[in-house]
Amino acid sequence: MGYVLGLDLGTSSLKGLLVNKQGEVVTTVTAEYPLIHLKPGYSEQDPVEWVKACDEVMLSLSEKVNDFTEKLEGISFSGQMHSLVLLDKNAEVLRPAILWNDVRNSDECEKINTEFGEEILRITKNIAREGFTLPKILWIQKHEPEIWEQVDQVLLPKDYLRYYLTGKFNMDYSDAAGTLMLDIEDKNWSEEVVSNYGINLDVLPPLVGSADYVGDVLEDLKSKYGLKNDVKVFAGGADNACAAVGSGILDESTGMASIGTSGVFLSYEESHESDYEGQLHVFNHAADDQSYYSMGVTLAAGHSLNWFKNTFLADKTFDEALANIGDINPGSNGLLFTPYIVGERTPYTDGKIRGSFIGIDTSHTIDHFTRSVIEGITFSLKDSQYLMENVAEKNFERIISVGGGSKNKDWLQIQADIFDTDIVTLTADQGPGLGATMLAAVGLNWFDSMDECSQVFVEYADTIKPINENVEIYKRYYEEYRKIYSSTKEISHNLNEIIQ
Ligand code: XUL
Repeated sequence: MGYVLGLDLGTSSLKGLLVNKQGEVVTTVTAEYPLIHLKPGYSEQDPVEWVKACDEVMLSLSEKVNDFTEKLEGISFSGQMHSLVLLDKNAEVLRPAILWNDVRNSDECEKINTEFGEEILRITKNIAREGFTLPKILWIQKHEPEIWEQVDQVLLPKDYLRYYLTGKFNMDYSDAAGTLMLDIEDKNWSEEVVSNYGINLDVLPPLVGSADYVGDVLEDLKSKYGLKNDVKVFAGGADNACAAVGSGILDESTGMASIGTSGVFLSYEESHESDYEGQLHVFNHAADDQSYYSMGVTLAAGHSLNWFKNTFLADKTFDEALANIGDINPGSNGLLFTPYIVGERTPYTDGKIRGSFIGIDTSHTIDHFTRSVIEGITFSLKDSQYLMENVAEKNFERIISVGGGSKNKDWLQIQADIFDTDIVTLTADQGPGLGATMLAAVGLNWFDSMDECSQVFVEYADTIKPINENVEIYKRYYEEYRKIYSSTKEISHNLNEIIQ
């Protein structure tokens, strides 16, 4: 029986997930790497670190699993999205990658949205945001023209790792969509976009589907890792698309709420017709080459809870900090929290908005505050669900909860009550890496379709039902929550000026 390996190239580590034909996890191995923060708002990483981490993961898998080197049949990837990797004509890295969470390029975003916004929205179904790749390229063109002159290939992180393993340049549609240079309907690089910004089409790699075979692991690496047989490499996908694949988000009835440092609310889209006007991201799905997904991002989801715990409950563990939130009534007795502590992405693209607690009174204890933080994070994800339900008239039958938000039973109930939908958890939440293994499994023809693969690889655990009484209470609180952004925007922006 063979193995497939999913390499999940995240922001802080590369995680290798080894899975067999039954979809059972054989083992996971993680290799960490540093972030470089040269200035506030800057976030970079050296691609050489990804390569080192890959060697580390492959070698420790060979050590840990005795038949790994014989049985490995295929590798695929999940990658942090949008981050810009620039290579010269000798395929040497020209500068550290500028990551998705780097926000130095606000001016470039504004320029794109004001001068070319309509075209960008029509072609890519998205608007420019700091995270995306095109405004990062514009920043390089303006601030590092000597680097731009030498650029021969523009890649995203997992494409660079795939190049290291196979010697081939490619990018899959799900990740290409996040560059803001893909015509997401035609699935071609948009000549209109690239020519407008003086980008030569030759610097963009050939486009492929996520489960497409792109080559074998190179001979010298095969010997380095001790691999006995040829190992096929498949393109892989954007981490959010892979998380959706790994959670079985393969039709419009099932949504996904993922709460990690940031939070994502995601929905499968049969077409890209829903007109979210750029408020939600719309990207090509990795599940097949026809579908799409829409998603909204809460920049500080788990990050808000971390900040709150570290600031006010530093001597407690997370479990201790959350121990009593189940005793507090829905709505935390009139205390609302907005998680805008590092600005917000969806539905308000606003780097200067800040968080707030509204409604504090003398009845509130630390447990009210803790519950209110969790409710605020969930309300913020509901903003994306709200757009999907109101613009695209979606009607979710269930939402798969993954990440940190699925680890606490009270938070799961809060999600069911705020989303007013059944919440389902996974038996083994492996994050986007599982989606990557599924792309390799489908690429190897272990299964005829992603649906078939999902029946074997994705296993659901509990279903948490909404409690009607709580749903009604939360509807009223959510109405008030939605007013906080516009009511606090001017104050936040002014405060921002004062502290400069
Ligand atoms: C999506 C986004 C993040 C990264 C994290 O638009 O910026 O979720 O994909 O890796």
